[in-house]
Amino acid sequence: MQWLVTIVVVLAALGLVLLKLYRFARALVGIDNQDQDKPSCGSCPGQRAGSSDLGITLKPLVQIGDKTKHSVAVLVMANVSLASIAWGQEIRPPNYDESKASSLRLVSVLAGADGKRIESKDQWELQRKYLVDLLAKEEYGIAPSDPVSVSIEVFDDGVAVLAGEPKPKIRRRQIAVNLERRGKSVRIDLAVWSPKDRPSAPCFLGLNFRGNQSTCDDPAIRLTTSWCDNRNPGVIQNKATQASRANHSERWPIAHIVEGGFAVATAHYSDIDPDFDDGFENGVHGLFPDHRLDAEHPDRWGSIAAWAWGMSRLADVLEKLEGIDPKGLMVLGHSRLGKTALWAGATDERFRLVVSNNSGCGGAALSQRIYGESVARINTSFPHWFNRNFRKYNDKEDLLGFDQHQLIATIAPRAVYIASASNDKWADPLGELLSGHYASDAYALHGKRGLDAKELPAVNTPLVHGSIGYHLREGDHDMLLYDWQQFMAFAKQNGF
Ligand code: GCU
Repeated sequence: MQWLVTIVVVLAALGLVLLKLYRFARALVGIDNQDQDKPSCGSCPGQRAGSSDLGITLKPLVQIGDKTKHSVAVLVMANVSLASIAWGQEIRPPNYDESKASSLRLVSVLAGADGKRIESKDQWELQRKYLVDLLAKEEYGIAPSDPVSVSIEVFDDGVAVLAGEPKPKIRRRQIAVNLERRGKSVRIDLAVWSPKDRPSAPCFLGLNFRGNQSTCDDPAIRLTTSWCDNRNPGVIQNKATQASRANHSERWPIAHIVEGGFAVATAHYSDIDPDFDDGFENGVHGLFPDHRLDAEHPDRWGSIAAWAWGMSRLADVLEKLEGIDPKGLMVLGHSRLGKTALWAGATDERFRLVVSNNSGCGGAALSQRIYGESVARINTSFPHWFNRNFRKYNDKEDLLGFDQHQLIATIAPRAVYIASASNDKWADPLGELLSGHYASDAYALHGKRGLDAKELPAVNTPLVHGSIGYHLREGDHDMLLYDWQQFMAFAKQNGF
């Protein structure tokens, strides 16, 4: 009798799980999504890979008849069931309850490889190297050390046209940056706007999601020819069309930045590495087939490390560019490109100021808190962003012997700014702030003040008393004029 009860209970539980999976599969192929024609948001949990930052509508991946959809749903369900049986677990659902956020067991940023605490700033260079190597090996992946040849062609040098008006005080340049190695090459288009009245301007460098033409309405900006996500407006068959011009201009207030005395440079992240999982064949990974991330080499570079490496190649160009202060290079980025900016700042000390905007999991947010996006979630949705070693920590955050505060610390003693947004729970604003807080010892070692706060400040109240700045903008996952205004003020405060 007892056996019978057990069997019935187990079967009922299995049935429930299968039903859940079936519903999920239906949603995935679009049967249940048809009323979801509303803009996606970067902070929404459970979004499909790549959709969040694109500011576009959730649509089924394929247009097919209902019968086919049901068969696809059943197939997807069967595969997912098999996969979850194979892996023996499902990904934990995201947590948004602060009382359930995990308690932290963070290693001090001053603890060296042997566990001993470093005491003087003379030891910092070694300690920094230890932290960068640790994060490279366990999370972002080791980039190749072989050089590539970098050559440039300035194919445009003129006066900027912004909001339909020529801006005589703003110089616009477009530069084809060619990277070559062993007969293969990659072209990155770098667009640079600089103030004509400042002979050597500090420069913000940030990658963009949709191509340089998306950053402003200047018709002279070359349309990207690199892979674009079909879900972005103005993209057909993964190619940008004229309709994509200026469709992310709210993120790039170029006139304000240059009028503030800064230069700003940007490139399409897809020029460096298209953002999909292709086994690391294309983009700059393709220049190093001898350094591929795979099962035998689980510590090599993923896409975030590739984008960051690409930013360093752009720094090679900017530090020699007339009108740009080589000692005034600043790296910045939003969301996945905020993670990238932090890693670029960690690996390249020529970036004297680093800005992370809403970078979240794998960026500024502490993974051990398990709040919002988790390690398992990000590694599953975006298997190409990090290296394979990072998957060891999927739903096993207790095994993490490191965390993102150590990433922030690698930037010390250079200035770093962390920006969150109040509705962006997916990126865990408090976890982003706490990384800055727990990185502060590395700044204290240099006699600098880090970030004192352990609690979120009121919205739109920047904390800028030390070398680690922070703000919580009111609103959604995005990078807007308000954010830029704080980045510029912080840069000025730090001598740029
Ligand atoms: C997703 C992803 C985040 C990432 C964001 C983005 O939401 O889960 O980790 O920051 O996309 O880059 O837009």
